Amino acid sequence: MNLTSKAATILDRDAPRDPGKPADLEFARALIKGLGNDPKSIPCRFLYDKRGSELFEQITELPEYYPTRTETAILKAYAEEIREATPTGALLFEFGSGSSTKTEILLSALDRLAGYVAIDISPSALEEATGRLARRFPELAVYPVVGDFSASMKLPGEFASTPKLGFFPGSTIGNLKPGEAVDLLANMREILGTGSRLIIGADLRKDRNILLAAYDDPQGITAAFNLNLLARANRDLNTSFDVSKFEHLATYDSKLGRIDMSLVSKTAQTVRVLGHEIAFAKGERIHTEHSHKYDIEAFRSLAKNAGWTPARVWTDDKALFSVHELRNRA
Ligand code: AVJ
Repeated sequence: MNLTSKAATILDRDAPRDPGKPADLEFARALIKGLGNDPKSIPCRFLYDKRGSELFEQITELPEYYPTRTETAILKAYAEEIREATPTGALLFEFGSGSSTKTEILLSALDRLAGYVAIDISPSALEEATGRLARRFPELAVYPVVGDFSASMKLPGEFASTPKLGFFPGSTIGNLKPGEAVDLLANMREILGTGSRLIIGADLRKDRNILLAAYDDPQGITAAFNLNLLARANRDLNTSFDVSKFEHLATYDSKLGRIDMSLVSKTAQTVRVLGHEIAFAKGERIHTEHSHKYDIEAFRSLAKNAGWTPARVWTDDKALFSVHELRNRA
């Protein structure tokens, strides 16, 4: 199956990334730019190559990583409430679909959908997921889209009057700074249009020890996930990172409600990156991910700033995670 050409038949992008531009070139540009910053950084979306997506799947099964299983339990418990408010024949639209595991909960509960649009940055994850969904839901029209969910896109006219249900689980919204999160939510509101709804997961603020364990597990899977970014650069761009000379670090700023992941240089060293010699001091960090945590009211006001009307909120009995329903009132 050719994912991109199938996607092109249903999605017309406004601001496409250069269609002839290979993914490697994008990573190369981001790497040069990010490693030239002070402090150094690499955007978190590059964590998800084939190996990175596999490691992330392993993270979701760790006892310490509560978000995935908690959100899954919330969706299962309230799938009927989500169904009640969704008209028959709606188009389900998922931003960053990954393995589409949580989507199956909605797909089982919702009545005859017009289709399922799955957008993800990882072609391998998308291919695996859409193949599995096609087998499990043979009646369902699945539209896979390889791409960055933050890009603006326009649905073709035939879907103009189809009711839309957006789905953005996993607390991926937390990877953006609050101002950027408002912009993304506003962009999603544009894409989905008036009368649409968005079901979105947001990780809640909580005890710092629970958070730190979730982002620095004793088995070292999160460390491997983070370090894979450097291994990926070596594989795809022929850089000279000695992965054993970097280590994973997760910190929590309780004032900002934010986990930060970094890679710390264990020694003073120089790395060859696409014709540049990048120097690292001992202890110097490359920032790789922000993961913001929100109280319920704080998240609702963020959504309001993006023009959404917050509706219902579902949570678990330990108040670890929240799932919000947002409405785009006509
Ligand atoms: C899937 C992006 C939401 O921030 O919790 C897991 C990624 N990073 N462990 C998160 C992640 C480290 C995850 N998101």
